[in-house]
Amino acid sequence: MTRTHTRSVRDQCSIAVESRIDCGRDRSLSRADCEGRGCCYVPLPQSGSRGPPWCFYPVHYPGYKMGPLLPTERGQRTTLTRSAPSYLPRDIPTLQLDVMAESLGRLHLTLKDPASQRYEVPFVTSQSRGHNDTQNPLYDVDFQPDPFGFIVRRKSNGRVLLNTTIGPLLFADQYLQLSTSMASSVISGLGEHYTPITLDLNWSSVSLWNRDMAPHRSANLYGSHPFFLVQEGDGQAHGVFLLNSNAMEVFMQPTPALTWVTVGGILDFYIFLGPSPQSVIQQYHEVIGYPMMPPYWSLGFHLCRWGYTSTNVTRTVVQLMRQAKIPLDVQWNDLDYADQRRVFTFDPQRFGDLPQMVEEFHQLGMKYVLILDPGISSTSPPGSYKPFDDGLKRGVFITNSTGQILIGKVWPGLTAFPDFTNPTTQDWWMDCIRAFHNKVPVDGLWIDMNEPSNFVQGSVDGCPDSDLEKPPYTPGVIGCQLNSGTVCMSAQQSLSNHYNLHNLYGLTEAIATHRALLKVKGTRPFVLSRSSFPGLGRFSAHWTGDVQSDWEQMRFSIPAVLLFGLYGIPFVGADVCGFGGDTTEELCVRWTQLGAFYPFMRNHNDKPNAPQEPYVFSQQAQDAMRTVTTLRYSLLPFLYTLLHHAHTSASTVARSLFLEFPTDPNCQSIDRQFLWGSSLLISPVLEQGALEVTAYLPPGTWYSLHNGRAYYSKGQYILFPAALDTINIQVREGSIIPQQVPALTTTASRRNPFTLIVALSAEDGAKGDLFWDDGESLDTFERGDYSYVLFFAEESYLVSKPVKLNGSLDRLVLGEVSVFGVQTRPTAVWANGQRVHDFSYSTDTKVLTVPGLDLPMAAMFTVQWS
Ligand code: NOJ
Repeated sequence: MTRTHTRSVRDQCSIAVESRIDCGRDRSLSRADCEGRGCCYVPLPQSGSRGPPWCFYPVHYPGYKMGPLLPTERGQRTTLTRSAPSYLPRDIPTLQLDVMAESLGRLHLTLKDPASQRYEVPFVTSQSRGHNDTQNPLYDVDFQPDPFGFIVRRKSNGRVLLNTTIGPLLFADQYLQLSTSMASSVISGLGEHYTPITLDLNWSSVSLWNRDMAPHRSANLYGSHPFFLVQEGDGQAHGVFLLNSNAMEVFMQPTPALTWVTVGGILDFYIFLGPSPQSVIQQYHEVIGYPMMPPYWSLGFHLCRWGYTSTNVTRTVVQLMRQAKIPLDVQWNDLDYADQRRVFTFDPQRFGDLPQMVEEFHQLGMKYVLILDPGISSTSPPGSYKPFDDGLKRGVFITNSTGQILIGKVWPGLTAFPDFTNPTTQDWWMDCIRAFHNKVPVDGLWIDMNEPSNFVQGSVDGCPDSDLEKPPYTPGVIGCQLNSGTVCMSAQQSLSNHYNLHNLYGLTEAIATHRALLKVKGTRPFVLSRSSFPGLGRFSAHWTGDVQSDWEQMRFSIPAVLLFGLYGIPFVGADVCGFGGDTTEELCVRWTQLGAFYPFMRNHNDKPNAPQEPYVFSQQAQDAMRTVTTLRYSLLPFLYTLLHHAHTSASTVARSLFLEFPTDPNCQSIDRQFLWGSSLLISPVLEQGALEVTAYLPPGTWYSLHNGRAYYSKGQYILFPAALDTINIQVREGSIIPQQVPALTTTASRRNPFTLIVALSAEDGAKGDLFWDDGESLDTFERGDYSYVLFFAEESYLVSKPVKLNGSLDRLVLGEVSVFGVQTRPTAVWANGQRVHDFSYSTDTKVLTVPGLDLPMAAMFTVQWS
């Protein structure tokens, strides 16, 4: 080796330690192996699994060379070629790059093999929206031709958002890798994991591979969301979505930089320029679809447990809830109902009168939901279990690599797994749901175990020894193998093999279930899915799985819920009081207080645990739970309006503070508090024994929701008392919150008078809105079959403006108004021009309350004071 050569190697390898990109991701390498790849081998003193790599790419690692960019109908195209294959098996030497400016804020780049059709993700982008205006985009893209890389800049300030020249692009059949620098270290996304709202970039990695796994650190959980949002530090943000459903691992390092590795498909990147964090989310949801509008009743309180062993036990639960006068809209049954745990049946002894029980609940104005697992029992004698017999005839099940039905094991024992990518399966599923619904008129369906979960690895016959089961590189997943806890990767589905489609299993089941409910019931479907993928929110609600009944898991449920909002699944909650292990009274009270502000609120418990229905606790605990559940019920018109906005304009419901206050650095990573929309700030107690809470209030005036007292914040933490019966909720100045007098069900509360909280801002008055419809018909917004009312207030008056009326507000009235921040005691109040004598004012809190009103909501009204 000549001296110049040694020097040039040294130069090539003199990279700051924290900038090293690992050249040995796929396996650990000796010095000889590493140098054999043309990489640098420079050991570091520290050991352990985390930290900079010893074997890393030199500055100019040979890669793809880019040809000239040619215009296409949708943008530009070029070919990338490499002169020598990479070190990976089945390297793909020629790639096609398409660069598509899809809107001012959305850039789309795809890298695929022009020579053969590789797997591409179906379903997700079918409803892509967006504007086609690309005249003056927010971004610039530059290319480094050799080795290929691209740089995306924010045009307004030149900030580099992505720079993929920091490492090589690798593209082999089962290993695709791309590294990029990041514009900041404040990154949220890449779920589903048990994490705070922002990711740890200190030589960490996350794997995206849907898995039946109770939430805990460093594990791939039920869903995969290859999307992240970067807060750039000055209030601007951007997002990146890699539309790829293969098993994936994303490595992060503190520079900050990130490396995507996926084991199949193509590289299909969307980059969203925002510039506000909320607009990044909107741009992302334009690609994956806006969330569905849930039926109104599903905003109520849901009660479930595994272990309601009969209809009588279930009835008693409902009775006790009613006796305790705690609102309950939806009673659930877990797998207990099913005959030998086989879905679409019910146990003739214990649940023989299930249809009557559901009718009784309906009579009470309540709804009923039960669980469906995808695994279809395969061992009943022929002729005795129609779902399997029919499914067999119609060819709906996933098959193994040799074409026989793949048999795994779930709750009922041996089971076959429906292939929901097959249109015949979707029809068969609908037939099963229709036949069952004809007997048991369920209102919604809970689709569990749909990763899909399998208690044997791959199948009862194992899996073949192949590159699909054991790819050259396996991301760091629980169980170490892709087929651990699920079906074989070589299993065949109608659209592709399970290796490619695994992460879509829950999404495809949700699509089929949503469609079936729609056809069978004709109303807005309610589906709750455990497994998730981008696009799920168009069809389903989501819960965060088997959380433990402990304080830490309760606390981490907040970032979990907030992140699912970013992923387009705003109708989400964790099991209130925890699922695994015994809860305690105090934890359950605090969790109910927090859960009352999950968009989706369900108390659910595992079989062996102590009961945790609200009525099993002391009177004091029940009172606290009743208070907060009732508070939730009074706020449902507001929550419904937020869900409507999520459905029509992709705004978030349970909202991170950084989305609302992007330029306030204190808000960047707050995940112990959150907002409802832009107006309510929720600051729950998250520690055992705590009777106060330190809550951050962004700059401005905030009013206590409970008594209207004002807090003026410069952007500071304030200590609030938080007795066991209290959750601190602050109303932001400038908002008007529509409420309704609560009741034990939404069926009843929807008939009650509305009330308004007007939180005045000294400068800008206040405003708010209400979306209202029948709560259950499909596509009411799309069909224009709804009412929409705006509310405005100034220093001395409140006025409503019905923008659209469809009759749904007829007979509904405004019963009361509370105005927060009225500086001087009014001497007179008028409603629709008439003097009102019954009003009160507190000089202490500066709240004006006008009760006893009876103003039709379907007409413009005014309330004035002076
Ligand atoms: C697992 C689910 O996550 C849990 O909620 C359910 O109770 C059990 N399966 C039993 O069906």
